[in-house]
Amino acid sequence: MGLDFPNPIGLAAGLDKNGEYINALATFGFGFIEIGTVTPRPQSGNLKPRLFRITQANAIINRLGFNNDGVDAVVQNIEKANYQGILGINIGKNYDTPMEKVCDDYLECMRKVYCYASYIVINISSPNTPNLRVLQNSEEFDHLLSTLKSEQIKLTNEYGKYTPLVVKIAPDLNSTQVISIATLLIKHKIDGVIATNSTLSRSEVENLPNSEETGGLSGSPLTKISTNIIRQLHAVLKGTVPIIGVGGIMCASDAQEKIDAGASLIQIYTGLIYQGPELVRDAVKISCK
Ligand SMILES: Cc1cc2nc3c(=O)[nH]c(=O)nc-3n(C[C@H](O)[C@H](O)[C@H](O)COP(=O)(O)O)c2cc1C
Repeated sequence: MGLDFPNPIGLAAGLDKNGEYINALATFGFGFIEIGTVTPRPQSGNLKPRLFRITQANAIINRLGFNNDGVDAVVQNIEKANYQGILGINIGKNYDTPMEKVCDDYLECMRKVYCYASYIVINISSPNTPNLRVLQNSEEFDHLLSTLKSEQIKLTNEYGKYTPLVVKIAPDLNSTQVISIATLLIKHKIDGVIATNSTLSRSEVENLPNSEETGGLSGSPLTKISTNIIRQLHAVLKGTVPIIGVGGIMCASDAQEKIDAGASLIQIYTGLIYQGPELVRDAVKISCK
C-alpha cells in the first residue's frame, strides 16, 4: 500500500467508531489503528440491547448498526487527536440511504476523510445494515470500485497525496464469489483487502446462550472461517493486493496462522475484549520474529 507500518498488528474497525480514543488506543502498541465505520450523517444505530457475549465460545454477537456521530464530527476528533501513526478510516452508508444512491455516501465520506486517512476502508460487509452485503455481488462491486477508483485519482491530484483504498469483505462467501471479488480488486487496482468482517453463521455456537441473537458473530468461532477466506484470496491475488487478516485472533499463534495463510497485516477486536491489551504485545512479538 506504500505505507511503512511499525508492526503488523492493528486495531480493527468498530471499537472506536468516532475516533474519540485514538491517542489512548495508540498506547496499546498497535502498529496501526482503524476507526469507524463512519457514515455521512450521524445515526444512532439499532435499539439496545445490541451487543452480546457468548463467553463459553470467546465470542461476541453485535448488531450495533453503524451507530456514529457522522463524518464531520469524526474529522474534528481526528484533528484534535493529532496522532502521527497509521490511521485507517472505515466508511459506510447511512441505513436510510437508498441503494441507488449508495455510491454518493461512500464518495461523500471519502472526500471528507481523504487527507486525514493513511488508508480508507470501503466497508461493504457489515451484516447489520440492510442490503449492504449486496455490494459484494460482481455487477454492483465492479461499478462501486470503478466509481471510487476514479474519485481516488481526482483526489490524488487535488491534494497531491495518494491515499490507498482498501475493501473489507464478509466471511460468508462461497469460493466463486471470493474469486470474482479478488479478480475485480486486481482489475481496479485496489490497494488492499480486509478479510473478514463478522459472520452470520451460527454453526460453531449452536445452543449456547445468546447464540440466537441477530447480528454478526466474531471471536473464536470465526477464526477458521476467516483464515479460509484469506487462503482463497491469496491463491488469486498472489501478493498483488495486500491482505489484512482479521477474525477470531485470540492468541499470538492465531495471528501467525493468518500470516501463513497469506495476510501481510493483522487486526484484532474480540480478542482484545477477552484477553486485554497483552494480546497486542504477544502478537507483535510473534509476528516480528
Ligand atoms: C462490537 C463490534 C462492532 C463492530 N463494528 C464494526 C464496524 O463498525 N465496521 C467494521 O468494518 N467492522 C466492525 N466490526 C467487525 C470487526 O472489525 C472485525 O472485522 C470482526 O469482529 C472480526 O474480528 P474479531 O473476531 O477479532 O473481532 C465490529 C465488531 C464488533 C465485535
